[in-house]
Amino acid sequence: MIAVREGWELDVMRSAGRKLAEVVERVREAIAVGITTKEIDQLTEATILALGAKPAFKGYKPGKVPYPASICISVNEQVVHGVPGKRRIREGDLVSLDFGLVYGGYYADTAVTVLMPPGDPLDQALLDGTQEALRIGIAEARNGKRVGDIGFAVESYVTALGFGVVTDMVGHGIGRRMHEEPSVPNYGKKSTGVPLVPGMVIAIEPMITRGGGAIRTLGDHWTVVTSDGSRSAHFEHTVAITPRGPEILTTLDPVPFPQPTIR
Ligand code: MF3
Ligand code: CO
Ligand code: CO
Repeated sequence: MIAVREGWELDVMRSAGRKLAEVVERVREAIAVGITTKEIDQLTEATILALGAKPAFKGYKPGKVPYPASICISVNEQVVHGVPGKRRIREGDLVSLDFGLVYGGYYADTAVTVLMPPGDPLDQALLDGTQEALRIGIAEARNGKRVGDIGFAVESYVTALGFGVVTDMVGHGIGRRMHEEPSVPNYGKKSTGVPLVPGMVIAIEPMITRGGGAIRTLGDHWTVVTSDGSRSAHFEHTVAITPRGPEILTTLDPVPFPQPTIR
């Protein structure tokens, strides 16, 4: 059964999402050349705790090895689930930051990618294209649409730009658990898949590369990299489907009910 969140539940999820957006802003301000990914993790965790929430990722254990940190930091050819450590951020790095917290029993999940100056123009194009793909995907998250409409919109936009879509990892429902039904792939066919109805809350998260979409996992059991070594970007929002349209929960300036994109 796919959960439908309404009334006070949605209000708690709004609070969780807003807190997570505050964490993103605080951490973005702190990222500079020379900072270690461990230091970014420590700042993330401290900020989550200061807001009265708990890190969602630390100790998360879908397989053998629990995730050891409060943020995922995936640099350059790393796609997702990069583990913080001694690595220092360098000039020109393409850095994906994935944040999660739990507040009042509800999860929020969001990701951004930043490009350290001077930045390769093709990395900037990848970053911009991935962010726009998320926006286009969110515009499909409306009553009467289906999960396949989101995937179709994301996939057709980024492949037209010449980028690769990671298909082995997907977005997801979110609520009392970080990962709930339904799966929200970044590919698909129009008017197929799970119907989207008001009260559903989903994490939409395009993972896009400058090369192909194939990935593999490193020996640390977590870090996912592109098979061809191409650089990758990731943006994610937690989005509620309301009777009036998609509502982005993980933002400081909610644009609650955007109109459908005219194309
Ligand atoms: N935030 C990731 C997602 O978008 C999940 C991270 S799980 C972790 O689904 F354990 F790696 F943190
Ligand atoms: Co995430
Ligand atoms: Co997610």
